[in-house]
Parts: sequence; C-alpha cells; structure tokens
Amino acid sequence: MAGRWKNDLNWSDVTPKAAFLNRRQLIAGTASLVAGGIAGPALAGLDARPSAYSTDEAPNSFEDITSYNNFYEFGSGKSDPADYSDALTIDPWSVKIDGMVDRPGDYAFDDILKDVTLEERIYRLRCVEAWSMVVPWIGFELADLLGRAGVQPGAKYVAFETLLRPEEMRGQRRPILEWPYREGLRLDEAMHPLTILATGLYGEAIPKQNGAPLRLVVPWKYGFKSIKSIVRISLMDREPPTSWNMANAREYGFYSNVNPEVDHPRWSQATERKVGGGLFAKRVPTRMFNGYGEEVAGLYRGMDLTEAY
Ligand code: MTE
Repeated sequence: MAGRWKNDLNWSDVTPKAAFLNRRQLIAGTASLVAGGIAGPALAGLDARPSAYSTDEAPNSFEDITSYNNFYEFGSGKSDPADYSDALTIDPWSVKIDGMVDRPGDYAFDDILKDVTLEERIYRLRCVEAWSMVVPWIGFELADLLGRAGVQPGAKYVAFETLLRPEEMRGQRRPILEWPYREGLRLDEAMHPLTILATGLYGEAIPKQNGAPLRLVVPWKYGFKSIKSIVRISLMDREPPTSWNMANAREYGFYSNVNPEVDHPRWSQATERKVGGGLFAKRVPTRMFNGYGEEVAGLYRGMDLTEAY
C-alpha cells in the first residue's frame, strides 16, 4: 500500500488551492445552507473523517461531477439528470432491508445516519462507456448497515433497487430499462471495506443527479454497478437479476469488474477519457480493477475473469 494511498488528506488538500478557494461549496457556504434549512440530514457529511482508502489523485470539479451524469431515470442524456432531477422528493426517505436478515424492516434514512461513521472517500470512477472521474464521496461502509440488519448465514448475494416513481422520474415513463433499476453484489464484495453507501460529495449533501439521498459506490467495478437513490436492499442465497444484465447479458456481466483486457463487444476497455481533461487530452490506460487490485483481487482468486465478466 505504501505510496499509493494518503491517509491524512481531504479533498481540500488535493484540490489545487485556487480551484478550492473558488468553490461554491466551501464549508462556510455549506454551513449557511444549514442555517437556511435547505439540506437537512445529509449535511452530516460535513463531519466526515479522511480515509486511508482515498486516492491522492486530484478530484474532478464539482461542476464536472454534477453536470455529466448517468441516471437513466431522468433520461439518457448526460445533462438530463442535472436538468430534471429537481423533481425528485428525497425527504422522507427509507430503505427496506429484507430477505435473509435477522432484523428486516424499513430503515429511515435519518436513523441509518445516526449509527454510522462518515468518511470522505476520494475514489476513481470508471464508467463502462470508457470515461472516468475522481470523486470525493462522503459515505459509510455498506458492511456497517448490513451488520445492523444482521446477515443470516445462508445469504450469499445482496440485491439493490432504486426508487420507482415515474411521476417524479420522467425517464421511467419510457421503457429505456426495465424499472426499477436493479443491481447486485456477491456478499463478500458487499462486505468489502471499499464498498460504501455515499450520502455526500465535496463536503455537502449528495446532489440528486448523483443519487440522493444515498447510493452505492463500488470503485473497482464499472460505474453502472454503483446504483443510485436506493430504496431496497435484499439479502439472498442466489445471484439477483440486474438491470443492465437483463437488458443485454452479453455486453454487461454480473461482475463487471473494471478490466482493460476484456473489451466491451462494441468498444475497447483498454483506455479511458478523463472527464474535464479538455478536448485534446490523451486517453490514459485503464487499470485492472480500476487500480484497486491490491485490495480486491483476492475476491476473485481462481475465477476466469473473461468468463465471469
Ligand atoms: N443508478 C441508477 N438508479 N440509474 C442509472 O441510470 N447509472 C449508472 C450508475 N448508477 C445509473 C445508476 C452509471 S452507468 C454510472 S457511470 C454511474 O451511476 C454514474 O454516477 P455519477 O452520475 O454520479 O457519476
């Protein structure tokens, strides 16, 4: 691990100073939002502590991260989520945890936050479409919440579902995908300390276009595994169906670990375009497991990753 992670840096340390000072999201500014009563519980993100799992790469700007998105519930264009997600009501919010758990039920978002340790995790995000960003998430380990629900011994997989509410999510009025958006992980992937539920970014509540009020972040997998605006988490003994896999199993596998050696049937995964790099920026090589191999390669020992893609 030496040299790859810095465990004492926050986003403000790794963002060039001038850019940092120009940010609309300065902590002071965010504090005034609290006074105005705008952002509510997700502002707990302000107390996040730095993490040894953060990369020391400079994060993308708040503008990049919140204006170039995939969130098909609001449309398939990159600016649709920013343009249309205001319509989504996120308060009240609860997450149903069911299936093979000792304490199933509806967990209110505020209650979930009371029991967790929020950290800032500056992670690389690699989309299956071959673009990438670096995002300073605020969140907590999914394992903490699963522990609270009490995972039963037979459980092997975790299924996730996004909110289904076509009145507020205009993309759901069309069958772009089979709604609600669904994702899944193997239990050991879900329990891995790199796997978080994010409730904030850049020190403030997570914007709606990024998956408010809470979304999954699995940094070694293609971005589509990181499901947004989660309302249900189910523990199961078999692999759950997942949206992109249901839409096209040949193009989108259940695992979807970032792998420069396994091309998408329609494009290469060997390199990526860093969002914010400008029109003429050179593409950079994509790394196995998005650079998180040291932490996660052991999860897949003995598996053929061209078969289990
Ligand atoms: N979650 C839901 N519910 N709906 C989506 O369309 N898109 C996925 C993922 N999570 C998506 C989703 C894809 S393809 C990517 S790359 C990431 O969200 C993008 O996250 P970001 O917009 O916060 O960068």
